[in-house]
Amino acid sequence: MDTRIVTINPEHIDTKVIEEAGRILKRGGLVAFPTETVYGLGGDALNAESSGKIYAAKGRPSDNPLIVHISDIEQLDKLVCEIPDNAKKLMDAFWPGPMTLIFKKSGLVPDGTTGGLDTVAVRMPNHKAALELIRTSGVAIAAPSANTSGRPSPTTAAHVADDLSGKIDMIIDGSAVGIGIESTIVDVTSEIPMVLRPGYITMEMLEKVVGKVGIDKAITGPVSPDVKPKAPGMKYKHYAPKAELTMFKGELKNVVEHINNLTDKNVKSGIKTGIIACEETKDMYKAGEVLSIGSRNNEDTIAHNLYGVLRKFDDMNVDVIYGETFEDNRLGQAIMNRLLKAAGYHVEKV
Ligand code: TXA
Ligand code: MG
Repeated sequence: MDTRIVTINPEHIDTKVIEEAGRILKRGGLVAFPTETVYGLGGDALNAESSGKIYAAKGRPSDNPLIVHISDIEQLDKLVCEIPDNAKKLMDAFWPGPMTLIFKKSGLVPDGTTGGLDTVAVRMPNHKAALELIRTSGVAIAAPSANTSGRPSPTTAAHVADDLSGKIDMIIDGSAVGIGIESTIVDVTSEIPMVLRPGYITMEMLEKVVGKVGIDKAITGPVSPDVKPKAPGMKYKHYAPKAELTMFKGELKNVVEHINNLTDKNVKSGIKTGIIACEETKDMYKAGEVLSIGSRNNEDTIAHNLYGVLRKFDDMNVDVIYGETFEDNRLGQAIMNRLLKAAGYHVEKV
């Protein structure tokens, strides 16, 4: 299949491009498009055949459900059985935005979209092109991240093309995304809302709106076979670069020294070593392929660069990667969740 890559100006969107993409979606095809979090791979959420194509293009396990993207609150009624009060409060506060809510699904949503679950994940993205695409196509758009299953999520159209060129109808290139990590997933089917995947909307932000919020145990540590994460996607090895990643925690200057020692040995034995540094430490490393992931003083920059850095190490064909760890509160919770998963929870104390 030929994949058309069309560039748009995210500020002045060419309606012809959006109309064409809308037609592709309407007739069951696949279009990758930018959102404020990561690029999504879109198909008609109410067409089981389109969902099937999404799973095939990504190589995604069929029990891992898709997020349904809407542009207007009125679309929600068709998709869900009920809208709990907590959901209304959260939607008021954070939609459009990087938050996905889990509802009991209506009969209209095919099992093929929800991986056989009786719940459905819904999100209203805060991105002009994404919203216009949903409106113009006239369909709710099922969209997982537009990467090959298991690879880091795409934050640019080039990342999408690397993974999915030849497998989907169209890629809308709307420049790099803003946030860089996926939405916060909140299950609102229970009395106390539960975070199933941390993201840009932090626990503190949610708690300000609805009071007590829980967090699924399975996302704060490695998943043992007897613990079943409530977001099926969280059990898979995810976001992983090709080389093995080890993270080091401890006092920052000791971590840097330790990584320098390991890298020194590696270089002598011809092992190509990648280092995940930050703006504050990048000049302290003496050897290896050093990439800054952002500034410790501005966590937004770390979220923004995270997946791009992991993909760059793939392109550089490094043999191993060493990484610094970061504070895991507020946005840091989502950042460390992604990095620890990428490392297969391999963390060493220095
Ligand atoms: O920011 C985002 O959420 C991006 C953009 C494209 O919107 N999308 C995204 O989709 O990250 P994906 O497919 O990569 O991740 C969806 C996650 C998976 O972990 C999946 O298991 C979970 O959402 N999920 C979907 N439906 C669910 C449901 N009904 N119950 C529990 N978890 C669900
Ligand atoms: Mg994904």
